Amino acid sequence: MSIDYSERIPNNVDLAEDRRLQRALESWQPRFLAWWAEMGPTLPTQDVYLRTAVDVGRAGWAHFGRVALPDYRWGIFLAERDPDRRIAFGQHRGEPVWQQVPGEHRASLQRLIVVQGDTEPASVEQQRRLGLTAPSLYDLRNLFQVNVEEGRHLWAMVYLLHAHFGRSGRDEAEALLLRNSGSEDSPRILGAFNEQTPDWLSFFMFTYFTDRDGKYQLGTLKESAFDPLSRTCEFMLKEEAHHMFVGTTGVDRVVERAAQLMREHDTGDIAPHGGIPLAVIQKYLNFHYSVSLDLFGGETSTNVANYFTSGLKGRWQEERRADDHVLAGEVTAVEQPAGGRVVTVGLPALTALNHDLRTAYSKDCETGVTRWNRILEQHGIDGHRLALPHPGFNRKVGMFAGCHVTPGGQVVDAATWAAGRDSWLPTPADKAHVESLMRPVYEPGKIAAWIAPPRSGINGQPVDYEYVRF
Ligand SMILES: [Fe+2]
Ligand SMILES: [Fe+2]
Repeated sequence: MSIDYSERIPNNVDLAEDRRLQRALESWQPRFLAWWAEMGPTLPTQDVYLRTAVDVGRAGWAHFGRVALPDYRWGIFLAERDPDRRIAFGQHRGEPVWQQVPGEHRASLQRLIVVQGDTEPASVEQQRRLGLTAPSLYDLRNLFQVNVEEGRHLWAMVYLLHAHFGRSGRDEAEALLLRNSGSEDSPRILGAFNEQTPDWLSFFMFTYFTDRDGKYQLGTLKESAFDPLSRTCEFMLKEEAHHMFVGTTGVDRVVERAAQLMREHDTGDIAPHGGIPLAVIQKYLNFHYSVSLDLFGGETSTNVANYFTSGLKGRWQEERRADDHVLAGEVTAVEQPAGGRVVTVGLPALTALNHDLRTAYSKDCETGVTRWNRILEQHGIDGHRLALPHPGFNRKVGMFAGCHVTPGGQVVDAATWAAGRDSWLPTPADKAHVESLMRPVYEPGKIAAWIAPPRSGINGQPVDYEYVRF
């Protein structure tokens, strides 16, 4: 079904048929716009070359054009309904999916939607000042694309809350605009979404590692027996792919520029030459990967086991798994710290589902590292390679919280950790250097000296297209 843009809230959910819901969402809309004005991008612009969803089908789902940011049409888009869809896992496996929320799962489903929904506006808040220092108009445009779509993902979750959770859902929708990233009094729910994204290296690492966490969380919700949630997440995943493209190619370009400067000056210490040294890139990677792993929660969780068994939340690519999709009695191998070492133990697969998801995520993250190392290789850089740290490194959540693990996976004492910390995580000096490189470059086709230009433009436009006008 294509999307109706003549409505105040563009949608493909027949909003006009449900006056009460329409009115409720129309009264939330000005509050969203006020939040965007206050907490969204700080850089004033005339218009931005953006894509807007116009359909949810396979062919040609997006339209590109110049849009003034506050006039972006945030809407409610669910993937097509499959009338034959059945529950793929858990105790209700094989039964038809739910179009309404079952009373006994109301609280759990609402919580899952609120936690997901809270991350969406959080990242807009984290990134609001990045427009002041974009390395090119191409990058500035990508930042705004990510921002407006995270705003739309908030709409996606707010629609579910309004449409299916009554009064308490409406209250939660309000609260999503009241919590703020990094706020003392009312922070965002998850740790990584209260961290700062102060510079563009952080932004690329965030879109590579943290948006990728989002992909995996949405992947589990896409399996949900609650069909409106499944269809919402399916469409969000489509938009999310571009966010990760921004991260992957952003880090590509920082690594490429580092390699060029290393060759040119025959040194790894490229900071004086206006580049970001590989050692600093590695530290940023270590930080963003480890805080993103925390988003997967504890390795074991009986809540998550219950979500799975009752059909609320599946596994990554549930339907492609060659098992019984119930997992009673199954055992899975999990690494945990014990007696000063990391050991592997067998745990019930059902309670270790967070670990299962995190493992799939880590494997996916490896593909970026391989790609970045290939760039180093292509530039003839020997002896320097990037790597993911051990999953126990720098963790605040789960089995490794409270113990010190090196990037190599060794459990160490507090003194050893303190001595190594500055070579593993960004130091104030590293951050100050990265910050010193952040100067806006707003001339079409020009690019900051710390990053290589993109290989191609957006939607077939040339790289030197005027993606943003002031
Ligand atoms: Fe999102
Ligand atoms: Fe995203």
